[in-house]
Amino acid sequence: MRIRHIEPGEPDGAGMFLRAYAFKASPMQPDELARLCSDPRFAAGRVGLVAEDDDGPRATASAVLMRQNLRGRVYPMAGIAGVASHPLARRRGYVRALMLELLGRMRDEGYPVSTLYPFRPSFYERFGYATLPSPRTATFAPAGLRPLLRRELPGEVSWARAGEGYQRYRDLALRLLEYRHGFAVFPEERDRMAADNESHWLVLAQLDGSVPAGGLMYRIEEYSGTLHGTDLLTTGPTSRALLLRFLAGHTDQVGRVVVTVAPDDTPELWGSDLTVHVEAAVRFPTNAAPMARVLSLELLAGLPTGEQGVTLTVVDDAWVGGTYRLAGSPDGLEVTRVPNAEPDATLTCAGLSALVYGAPDPAEFELLGWGSVPEPVAQRLRVLFPPRLPYLCARF
Ligand SMILES: CC(C)(COP(=O)(O)OP(=O)(O)OC[C@H]1O[C@@H](n2cnc3c(N)ncnc32)[C@H](O)[C@@H]1OP(=O)(O)O)[C@@H](O)C(=O)NCCC(=O)NCCS
Repeated sequence: MRIRHIEPGEPDGAGMFLRAYAFKASPMQPDELARLCSDPRFAAGRVGLVAEDDDGPRATASAVLMRQNLRGRVYPMAGIAGVASHPLARRRGYVRALMLELLGRMRDEGYPVSTLYPFRPSFYERFGYATLPSPRTATFAPAGLRPLLRRELPGEVSWARAGEGYQRYRDLALRLLEYRHGFAVFPEERDRMAADNESHWLVLAQLDGSVPAGGLMYRIEEYSGTLHGTDLLTTGPTSRALLLRFLAGHTDQVGRVVVTVAPDDTPELWGSDLTVHVEAAVRFPTNAAPMARVLSLELLAGLPTGEQGVTLTVVDDAWVGGTYRLAGSPDGLEVTRVPNAEPDATLTCAGLSALVYGAPDPAEFELLGWGSVPEPVAQRLRVLFPPRLPYLCARF
């Protein structure tokens, strides 16, 4: 088996063929496949790997070169996507070999963390990934928001086809990237695919300055039917109220509105008479919660943390295995390898990743198979890595 590296911007016909078979209606018409292969936007902002043997391409995996906010600081993040193997080459270890090569390359190129959406979490747990909290959907009749129609609010909304408003939506995403824990953005050249979005409307909330403070992409199914929104992106309650007031204006047009919200959002508090159903629906292979892992603790030095110290051993991992002294200071996390020290707790990479991302709590780790943390150590870890609910938002 040989592994071929596909660099950003390089066409990747073999990988596209395997991805098309795995993820699209199949068989795909040859001209449609040729169109996908020649579209430079699919090759932009990603590195790919293809495993080949004498029978041809056997498997592929890619990393999208993203950025993600962790506890207030922005880091390079490898978004793993397009993992697929040839139907005659499954269960032969090709994808395992590609994942090991890809994660090693991303770590060596300075990516401290990686995320993905699994077809099945147990598959990626063996590569060190921890499941993060899922976003929620909020379903409500817009009539419940009618009181907002009479509210004076600072700011205004603008409305356009999603493609026309793409640059301002991107500006909003970059604004959220600066401070929203877990929030991730695509590389600019890949995000341009959104500029072709003809299927959605875009409403933006503007409070001041030139960068929007809130935004929602949506489409309307039919008169009296459902308004399907994507993520309700807001920088605070006022921008959210502007967007909800816009939705309230659809009271006699649609029967219900569905929007995606962050794991820590509370739609039940959006209005006193609002009837709302909030749901986290996790299904495989198409609607999984995201997963994340740390690729290098050293690259996370300086991460904003609480002031506390702990010695941890991370086991069973090619990239972050070892014993570390982790200390929080006003300048952020200090990371020192201490190979001979006695650890306060022993964790898998999934356990370490959950600490960095802020959920779940270390008291859950033993049941999840992520290591064992004595309660006094768990208390120190909650100070060093205060609990947070990450909101990845980007889907890939
Ligand atoms: C999922 C898929 C990529 C797996 O590829 P594969 O070539 O069979 O993977 P490998 O042979 O390298 O297996 C790697 C490991 O995962 C295990 N594994 C494989 N398929 C699995 C599955 N469906 N569920 C759980 N574990 C699985 C293997 O047993 C192996 O474990 P080991 O390393 O401990 O021996 C392949 O079946 C596929 O292309 N499916 C359709 C597309 C898809 O769902 N892609 C994933 C998108 S996130």
